[in-house]
Amino acid sequence: MLPITMEPTLTSLFRGYAQWLIRAEDQDLLHRHAPGRFNHLEPDEVLLEGAFTFAAFRRMGAMADGMAQLLRIAAGEGATSALTYVAIDNVPSLRGCANVGFDLDHVRVSVRRLGRRRSFTHDPDADASLAWGNATAH
Ligand SMILES: CC(C)(COP(=O)(O)OP(=O)(O)OC[C@H]1O[C@@H](n2cnc3c(N)ncnc32)[C@H](O)[C@@H]1OP(=O)(O)O)[C@@H](O)C(=O)NCCC(=O)NCCS
Repeated sequence: MLPITMEPTLTSLFRGYAQWLIRAEDQDLLHRHAPGRFNHLEPDEVLLEGAFTFAAFRRMGAMADGMAQLLRIAAGEGATSALTYVAIDNVPSLRGCANVGFDLDHVRVSVRRLGRRRSFTHDPDADASLAWGNATAH
């Protein structure tokens, strides 16, 4: 995990959910920790990373509740946009993100070469749109 100055936010009604709220002013730590992996955050953007619900509390809405709390905190501090990244096959996380208002915006591809990870982004393609649509359908 990242240095503690990032302030991990342990939240949710159940105290069973944890996730990083990373503000633009803290992003140097992020880029130092994982060079090339994350896009540069604009001053009014935040990144939500590392969603985790402890096993005993899963499927009880902890992610929906906890992530929504973090978004409200960010909005209260002036953020107008939030990013989060989820593996294309992580249905619970994709659904949880959709539940709090996230939509598919772009695709990030990470490539590991000689032990170093680089990421690039592109517009949603057919595979990503299908995966998002299937995972978040009601
Ligand atoms: C992803 C994770 C954080 C979801 O936490 P959670 O508290 O169980 O999520 P919620 O209860 O808010 O459920 C979110 C949605 O996913 C659905 N869901 C939860 N677990 C599911 C599962 N195993 N299979 C299918 N859907 C599932 C819920 O039904 C809900 O959708 P709905 O509101 O339409 O019914 C949790 O599964 C987890 O910690 N996984 C391991 C770490 C991980 O993958 N983190 C995400 C990194 S991006």
